[in-house]
This record gives sequence, C-alpha cells and structure tokens, in this order.
Amino acid sequence: MEKKFYIKTYGCQMNELDGQQMGRLLKGSGYVPTMDPEDAEVILINTCSIREKASHKVYSDVGRFRALKLKKPEVVLGVTGCQAQAEGPYLQKRFPYLDLVIGPDHTAKIPEMVGKALLQKSSQAALQFEKPENYRFLNLLPEEEENQTKAFVTIMKGCDNFCSFCIVPMVRGREVCRDPEEILLEVQALAEHGVLEVTLLGQNVNSYGVGRHAEDSPKKRSQTPIMSFASLLSCISRESKIERIRFTTSHPKDLSEELVQEFECNPKLAKHFHLPVQSGSDPVLERMYRGYTRAEYMKKVVALRKACPDMALSTDIIVGFPGETEEDFARTMDLLSEVGYDFIYSFSYSPRPKTTAALYFEDDIADGLKQERLQRVQELQERLTWEKHRSLVGRVLDVLVDGPSKIGGTLSGRSSQFHVVHFEGGVEDLGKILPVKITQAGPNSLIGEKNG
Ligand code: SAH
Ligand code: SF4
Ligand code: F3S
Repeated sequence: MEKKFYIKTYGCQMNELDGQQMGRLLKGSGYVPTMDPEDAEVILINTCSIREKASHKVYSDVGRFRALKLKKPEVVLGVTGCQAQAEGPYLQKRFPYLDLVIGPDHTAKIPEMVGKALLQKSSQAALQFEKPENYRFLNLLPEEEENQTKAFVTIMKGCDNFCSFCIVPMVRGREVCRDPEEILLEVQALAEHGVLEVTLLGQNVNSYGVGRHAEDSPKKRSQTPIMSFASLLSCISRESKIERIRFTTSHPKDLSEELVQEFECNPKLAKHFHLPVQSGSDPVLERMYRGYTRAEYMKKVVALRKACPDMALSTDIIVGFPGETEEDFARTMDLLSEVGYDFIYSFSYSPRPKTTAALYFEDDIADGLKQERLQRVQELQERLTWEKHRSLVGRVLDVLVDGPSKIGGTLSGRSSQFHVVHFEGGVEDLGKILPVKITQAGPNSLIGEKNG
C-alpha cells in the first residue's frame, strides 16, 4: 500500500511554496498526499514565527498529533519552517516524541530525513544555516496533475534588513539571490506547463541583484552578471510566454526609479504594488529601523501612480509598536486616507525573540489599547476599500479565472489589481484571463459579467 503524507502550512507565500516543494519531494520518494492526518504516515507542520500567536499554533498542533503517534508509533511527525528554526531544540525537549525539526534552509533534505527517522527511531534535526555561497535553490516544477494556472517562483531567500520588530532575518538567514537564468528557465517551464501568472517571491525583492548571489561555480559566476530586479522583470517578460507577473514583498527603501519606470513599459506586470509602510509616523519608522521617512515613502507612491495610474496599492501596518503615542497613531490613520490603499494587512505589535525591539524597547502599549487601535485602523480601511470597490462599477477588468465562486456567480478569479471578482461563466472559462465588466461592489470582492 502507498504511504501517505500530510503537510499543514502556516505563514507567508514563501512558506506556502516551501510546503509545496516538500510535497513534491515526498512524491518523488513514492509518497502520496492526503488531506487527512489520521491517514498519513508522515505528518509535517510547516510553521511561521512572525508573531507570538503564529508561533504558539505549533505547540497545540504537536500536542494534538501526539494521540496519532500513540495509535500509530511508526508515524513520522516533523516540524519545519520558521518556528522550527527559532525553537528547534526547545521543541525537541518539550515534545520528545517529535521525530524531525527542520529549518527552512534544509527543505531539500526532507525525504532523506524521513528515511533516517524511520530507521533510527530518534529525533533528527537540521538547523544550521547554509553558508550563502553554498546555498542551493530547489528546482522543482509542479506535477502535471497539479494543473495550476498560477505559481510562485523563489527569486531570493533570507533578509538582511533587520527591521527592529522582525524575526525573519533570524529564522531565514542572510539574503541570497537566485541565478537569473535559473529563474527564467523555471518561469519558461511553468508557462509551457499552462501557468499564466507567476508571483516572484523574496522578503525584499527590490534588493534583488544587490545582495549575495547563489552560483553553481566560479566559472558560471563570471558568465552571469547580476541583474537588477527591474531588469529581471523585463527579461522574464521578454523571454518567456508567461502572461502576468506579480512579485512580493517590496521594501520602500529599495524601490528604485528603474522599477517604477518598468511599470510604464511592461504590460505583463500586474497592476498591483504591495508596499509595506508599517507606520505613518517618522519617530516610529526610525525606531523600526525601516530606513525611510513618511515623505520619502509618499514620493515613491506618487511616482508609482504616475507611472501606472490604474495601479492598486496595498500595505502592512503594525499598531502598538513600543512608544507609539496617540499622535503617532493618528499619523498612521491619516496616511491610510492620504494614500488611499486598496487593501491593507494590519497587525498588533508582538515582541519576537532576539529582535532589537524585544531586547531594547519596552512593550509599553497595553493589549487593550493595541486592540482598540487595530480596530480603528481596520474600520477606516474597510470604508476606504469599499469606496474603491464602488468606484470600479462599470469598469472592465482582466480576470484570471481560477475556480468556482463561493458567493454570487459561478466562477471567480483575480483582476490584475488583485481584486477577487465573481461572475457567471462555464467550464471553458477556467484557466483563462477574461475581460469582466464590474456590476456590483461588495466590501471584500466585486461582482461582474463577462464582457463580450
Ligand atoms: N518582508 C516583508 C514582511 C514580512 S513579515 C517586508 O519587509 O515588508 C509580514 C508583515 O508582518 C510585516 O510587514 C509586518 O507588518 C508584520 N510583522 C512582522 N513582525 C511583526 C511583529 N513582531 N509584530 C507584529 N507584526 C509584525
Ligand atoms: Fe522583516 Fe524587515 Fe526583512 Fe521584511 S524587510 S522580512 S520586515 S526584517
Ligand atoms: Fe512567517 Fe517565516 Fe514567512 S516567520 S511570515 S513563515 S518567512
């Protein structure tokens, strides 16, 4: 009988892609996927540690899967991803029945480590960061039966920014850029495979080409010049058949004029820019070590809108950062109105181990006040988003149709600007980019009809 694996993934798109890659690796070793952990011989919890709440999910999951291990002792239970990196040895001590803890640099070793866990029946760990010059990106394409219209493509790993609140540099290591040729080959292969849209992934894609470069050999290094992020986008658009390109995440301090100009001339770029600002107040931005002021950020927003007037903008906001006064918070609120984002992700500050903010700044905003500020930010943005949506009624948007709709209409997909659009259509529309005329605006999505 075939052995089955179950992977539960938390966190960002990078973790989601890592989860997909682990699945492909296990399939390559003869395992088949299952949606039911009770049915699995290998269970992996692919974790996130960005906020305390995310990191605590791993404890309850590992605890819950213990019952399964008691029933079926041959089950291999592993924790992968950022929380494995952050707390591997602690997890092994607290949960002695845990078979594997594997950091994000060691995804490629999953099949080998599962094999070892089965043979040696002792807890295995892989938590050392690879040296940047030795780091290898995985080259695994989706399987034929995955039938994807959209795919993630890693272009770099790690982060060198050390924003004072953020644990990512501690759990994902230093920035390493992937060889542009390798990226291009992957995008070309995905396009051949029927993929219409790729999202290029990195913690700070705007610094692509500036950081370290992963190469196969010194010879190849001399042959492949490092290119900027804007030239990478232009190269992928020119040389592959991919129809739409997204990317995430951008850091405002590294957003170059060259990238802004790329939006003027590259029709394959999706008209959406996610540009995390975190706060609208300069003293807070300074304590966050973000490397830009509000005025500098606004300049980039204006430049992007000038290059592409249709562009949707989104951002990340943290409320309740140490020392955030009512006045600081008011600056964040008025920034939201000033920019007029299409949508935002907002979080209440959570101190993370080993970060500068956790070590040196007192977490002095009471939980109740953080929650109140979060609610105020979210209420304001709900109004702004709905206004934006109403302004789109009557417009025709290009929608990549990716599945059945959960509400109104039969199908749904994403516009170039990243709105969710529902409309009536047939099976023949699946996996295409179609013009859809917007007829109704909802708070979270749009409803429309096929145009022609
Ligand atoms: N690389 C991306 C962000 C990755 S983390 C960037 O630079 O923008 C995603 C978001 O989580 C961050 O933008 C931030 O808003 C939020 N975040 C990160 N650390 C946090 C913390 N300690 N508390 C609350 N929110 C946090
Ligand atoms: Fe974290 Fe800042 Fe790096 Fe983003 S840029 S991953 S917020 S340290
Ligand atoms: Fe979480 Fe790691 Fe992503 S901490 S947000 S899964 S990089």
